[in-house]
Amino acid sequence: MTDFKAELTENAQAIEEELDHLLMMDDRPESRLVEAMRYSTLGGGKRVRPFLVMASSQLFNVARSCALRVASAVEMVHCYSLIHDDLPAMDNDDLRRGRPTCHVEYDEATAILAGDALLTRAFEVLGHPATHSDPQVRCDLVTELARAIGVDGMVGGQVLDLMAEHAALTIPEITRLQRLKTGKLIGFSCEAGAILGKAPEAARAALHAYAHDLGLSFQIVDDLLDVEGDAAEVGKKTHKDGTAGKATFVSLLGIERARSQANMLAEQAVQHLELFKEKADPLRDLARFVVNRRA
Ligand code: IPE
Ligand code: IPE
Ligand code: MG
Ligand code: MG
Ligand code: MG
Repeated sequence: MTDFKAELTENAQAIEEELDHLLMMDDRPESRLVEAMRYSTLGGGKRVRPFLVMASSQLFNVARSCALRVASAVEMVHCYSLIHDDLPAMDNDDLRRGRPTCHVEYDEATAILAGDALLTRAFEVLGHPATHSDPQVRCDLVTELARAIGVDGMVGGQVLDLMAEHAALTIPEITRLQRLKTGKLIGFSCEAGAILGKAPEAARAALHAYAHDLGLSFQIVDDLLDVEGDAAEVGKKTHKDGTAGKATFVSLLGIERARSQANMLAEQAVQHLELFKEKADPLRDLARFVVNRRA
């Protein structure tokens, strides 16, 4: 696992450089917006989703420069979702990645717009010829990402998540909520390599199945960290879900059962990778990292 941490860090460094390049600071009257976009995107985060894009791309020998662009676009979308998630109208948080949230550091209007601009920049990056020489591949990336983060994906999940503060949800309902809120973007990250590499359908289906289990496991661990984690280590406030009265796997199952569910899902995720033999080891390590992480 020590080696894997080094691999994750090395990958995060490459993503940082790519994001720095794609979100270039300039000197215009509206540059404060770019500053806020950079503030919320650079210098933090585990970069799990970009890692998934890079690792899935390696399975199909995708050019590194292309994979880096898609990985960075995914991270831009993720950072936009965090900026908006932290807003007073949503989770009203003031700490993110160990620093003040975007709306606290800047102001609410800037935070909303920085999120909007990160989201649109992500699609601009995907649509650019440097992302792939085949326009059909670029079109598929755009369509699949849009599908993963819209009303049938992340944003729909965020709506359900806000409703979960006032409703007693069942396990199937929470499962659906989390698959949308967190799982779909993780799903796109895993399938992106298959899209870029024009992989056979069976390979893409295997990655889809891996992501299906990994995404749910990831969010259960996020909920566990909210209950058990230390804010200084996690880099965001803890005990928020309980205070908000939010239904989660942890509130329904308790800590022990939620943890064993997360572990079981991570192991199940790994089992979908047999097709790729040892080439998928980074994805196997990532699944184990997800359930053992402390942030
Ligand atoms: C936090 O995501 C939000 C969720 C969808 C659970 P991460 O745990 O990946 O946050 P960063 O990117 O490492 O800060
Ligand atoms: C956020 O979920 C999910 C998205 C931003 C799509 P949470 O609200 O649980 O994430 P944290 O705990 O604030 O990072
Ligand atoms: Mg939230
Ligand atoms: Mg939140
Ligand atoms: Mg959370």
